Amino acid sequence: MEAFAPGRVNLIGEHTDYNQGLALPFAIDRGITVTAEPIQARTIEVQALDLGQTDRFNLDSPQRIPGWPAFVRGTVAELSRAGVELIGARLTITGDIPRGAGLSSSAALEVALALALIALSDASAPDRIELARLCSRVENEWSGAQTGLLDQLSSLCGQPGHCLRIDFRTLEIRPVALELDEHRLVTLDSGSPRVNTSSGYNQRRAECSRACELLGLPSLREARLEMTQELPEPLGRRARHVIRSNARVDQAIAALERHDFPALGELLDESHASLREDYEISTPEVEDAVGALKAAGALGARIMGGGFGGHVLGLFGPGSTAPDGSLNVRPGPGARAYHQL
Ligand code: GLA
Repeated sequence: MEAFAPGRVNLIGEHTDYNQGLALPFAIDRGITVTAEPIQARTIEVQALDLGQTDRFNLDSPQRIPGWPAFVRGTVAELSRAGVELIGARLTITGDIPRGAGLSSSAALEVALALALIALSDASAPDRIELARLCSRVENEWSGAQTGLLDQLSSLCGQPGHCLRIDFRTLEIRPVALELDEHRLVTLDSGSPRVNTSSGYNQRRAECSRACELLGLPSLREARLEMTQELPEPLGRRARHVIRSNARVDQAIAALERHDFPALGELLDESHASLREDYEISTPEVEDAVGALKAAGALGARIMGGGFGGHVLGLFGPGSTAPDGSLNVRPGPGARAYHQL
């Protein structure tokens, strides 16, 4: 049995998922592949081929340990907790998404593991939204990052040639054609060390909850720009970022529909400025990487994903060349399991 789950790029709408907002991600054509073979014992044996490392644990009582094995153990534990009856397995993991790059290698790992284990055990699978929630609990409870559903939904629901307009209040997912004509989207590694990524992320999430409490609102989706003036700083700026980001998602869809790439580029630049000034998740290395994309002629460029490092995103027109080391990214299919040939 084999399962593949892609990483994702988020075109626009950042730090909106846990605020019941809007985002416009797509699954990329790179990801994680997990192969699974049955074994007699109630044991999970794992080989991470690219890392040259292994792990082994009892299927019925996975213990917590740090590093990549936490995602495997967490996925097994959360599947069991959801009533999926798993059998012992030998798993091998390989992938072609750069790790820790902000391209959601960890969500791809959780999703590929979950699909491979479910298929191997011939168990009935939760639907894709439930599966996204389950994988996101692995992130929250086993790795300590209080992330939302953006990465897992993108990986599970991706469609070739399309991005997904996700409304995190209703979990309605609408495919939007990503027709770029002669334009390209690329990512570029900022090389930022990404230390304290999850603590900075969790702090932003807590600030948004506090802003809601002070405004007496269930989520920032209900907030309006003028309300942000009632909030103390930095909460006002955090809320302002979220409100404007939601609006930018639909503006970006309108620009795509008009094939108006300069307008799309401008929205990417605005998103970056907002993430730097209002949400404060940029770093000097990220600024350099965004600057390098702009200097090479990008119509727009921005920090992407959780922030504090990782890859940045740029939109290039037909006449310009992205800097060396850039990765072309395009929408590929969502996660799937299949029998090996
Ligand atoms: C990370 C998280 C997502 C989302 C983004 C920011 O990728 O895993 O849930 O919050 O950051 O948009």
